[in-house]
Amino acid sequence: MKKLLFSTLALCLMACCKETKPVVNYEVIPLPQSIEYTEQEPFQLDAKTVITYPQGNALQEKNASFLASYIQELSGMPIKTQAGVTNGKRIVLKTDLQNANQEAYQLTVTSDQITIDGASPAGVFYGIQTLRKSIDVTHPKALVFPTVVINDAPRFAYRGMHFDVSRHFFTVDFIKQYIDILALHNLNKFHWHLTDDQGWRIEIKKYPRLTEVGSMRKETLIGHLLKDKPHQFDGKPYGGFYTQEQIKEIVKYAQDRYITIIPEIDIPGHTLAVLTAYPELGCTGKDYAVGTKWGVFDDVLCAGNEASYKFLEDVFDELTELFPSKYIHIGGDECPKTRWKECPKCQAKIKALGLKGDGEHTAEQQLQGYVVSRIEQFLKKKGREVIGWDEILEGNNISQDAIVMSWRGTEGGIAAAQRHNRAIMTPHYSLYFDYNQGEDPSKEPLSIGEYLPVKKVYDYEPIDPKLTPEQGKYILGAQANLWTEYIASPAHA
Ligand code: ACM
Ligand code: ZN
Repeated sequence: MKKLLFSTLALCLMACCKETKPVVNYEVIPLPQSIEYTEQEPFQLDAKTVITYPQGNALQEKNASFLASYIQELSGMPIKTQAGVTNGKRIVLKTDLQNANQEAYQLTVTSDQITIDGASPAGVFYGIQTLRKSIDVTHPKALVFPTVVINDAPRFAYRGMHFDVSRHFFTVDFIKQYIDILALHNLNKFHWHLTDDQGWRIEIKKYPRLTEVGSMRKETLIGHLLKDKPHQFDGKPYGGFYTQEQIKEIVKYAQDRYITIIPEIDIPGHTLAVLTAYPELGCTGKDYAVGTKWGVFDDVLCAGNEASYKFLEDVFDELTELFPSKYIHIGGDECPKTRWKECPKCQAKIKALGLKGDGEHTAEQQLQGYVVSRIEQFLKKKGREVIGWDEILEGNNISQDAIVMSWRGTEGGIAAAQRHNRAIMTPHYSLYFDYNQGEDPSKEPLSIGEYLPVKKVYDYEPIDPKLTPEQGKYILGAQANLWTEYIASPAHA
């Protein structure tokens, strides 16, 4: 670090005294693992610069055109891309780097060449992002690159960002823009929260009422759920969903940017939209309406009805056709057991399964574990693995292969790692981006509440010191979540 500071200082002096020109800054977010300056004349990027990539390599050709488009967007300068080698001023993309971490890259700047060498095309893509971010947006035409060797690789294989499109719906164009923002930050997982009480947002051909009925709510709450009472509603029907063709287009768009989309179908709670479309799948079978306000609802999928499992298998059949992701998110959060306690079918299931509760966990909590395990087994046959919110630990009976997404704090993730289940850390107090970012709520837009400044996000350490190094290996990474109860527009998102 000292060396870095010293070199930066030297460069500033150089820039200020000799050239008086601004230069690019490699200290981007995420900060590369190492930045070693070398003592040569800087590389001056200009319109004669050509980006080259290996002949016949479609992924690298795509990487080259991404880089050219970023430079053009920032500086207005069109840059040529070319297969093979060139002698002039050039940016060379290649994948010769030997590194066990396939997302690693080395970015080398000499006076006449920038080289981005990745352990894979994904690594090259991250090197491109670093190069792109190093350009000072306040001086986008100052394309002076100090000579340097940057070595970088992500610490975690799972670097996620979530987005809730149920509480508010966002267009295909905006989802693409959102994916662009993930790419800019070297994130590689997009957790797409597609279903919830307030709207089902994905076309399922076998169950057309999910979108015909379940994607529309009668109206929407005005103001804050807890602070603005009595509740008032806007009286305007609200809805939207993605067709399977649109989903495929978005999956491809993300893939091109080395982002895997992990779809979430939230079950068995947060299913009011499902029950409105297919009331027979609820414990009481009647009087459901797609949610018009936020929070948690007692009406959930009936876990005692075999038709519920048939429904889920059909939905996951179509879902896995659309999403190649190894991980499928099945929700599992905030599922009240009120209806299950009263439902003859659920109680019969509990009896048939011999679930008795164990002092710490009720039989109904164990029933939730059964739902999760059953869907997990179904998805396993298709070669997929399940992720669930940390409540899936509650019955203490999920399989060793389930991945726990720790949101209520870090406890779920710690417990998961201690019992050798994999975990993804997304504790709300550090990683919920729907919280206020400024200290004074009166100066913030309406939000769910709480205060989460950027520094706290940046300081978050996913591996809790309570974990041994062995247990720490079960932490796949971290994710930030953006819930949209109070976020209704792209600009706000
Ligand atoms: C959640 O915030 N309900 C996962
Ligand atoms: Zn039931």
